[in-house]
Amino acid sequence: MKLLSMAWFTLNVISLSSSSLSPASMKNFISKIGSRETEKRFSTIRVEASGNTVPSIVVYVTVPNKEAGKKLAESIVKEKLAACVNRVPGMLLFCLKSCPNIQTDSEELLIIKTRQSLLEALTDHVKGNHEYEVPEVIALPITGGNIQYLEWLKNSTRD
Ligand SMILES: *[C@@H]1O[C@H](CO)[C@@H](O)[C@H](O)[C@H]1NC(C)=O
Repeated sequence: MKLLSMAWFTLNVISLSSSSLSPASMKNFISKIGSRETEKRFSTIRVEASGNTVPSIVVYVTVPNKEAGKKLAESIVKEKLAACVNRVPGMLLFCLKSCPNIQTDSEELLIIKTRQSLLEALTDHVKGNHEYEVPEVIALPITGGNIQYLEWLKNSTRD
């Protein structure tokens, strides 16, 4: 029985991926399955399930040193272009041919969590506040996660 409902759940999650679901039918769907564990799993799968979240992304930006990383991270959060920025120090750089940027030993990676709709403004901000001619700015979609965190992400960024 448990196996059966798991299979049913999996099937439904797959079919849900291509359709939007109202909160009422979602509630119905969860109560049909019945278990709290399933409800918990569900909330980590569907970002769109909460009306308080927006499509969100992770953006990677590399900077040449700690000072540049601190300054850029602070300005991004101050402008509400991101909910938070993680700074990863000690990045080592390796490129097959010449790297497009200056090589330093103290390069930092900024991991920026923000709304998808802010990508253009964020990219412009980085380009305007970066010493590289062609700074790395790459965005990855967030396909799911902790709904409360994603709500916080929305609440902490500008519209
Ligand atoms: C985000 O804002 C909404 C609307 O103001 C609020 O209901 C919700 O509790 C907030 N969530 C978090 C995690 O900050």
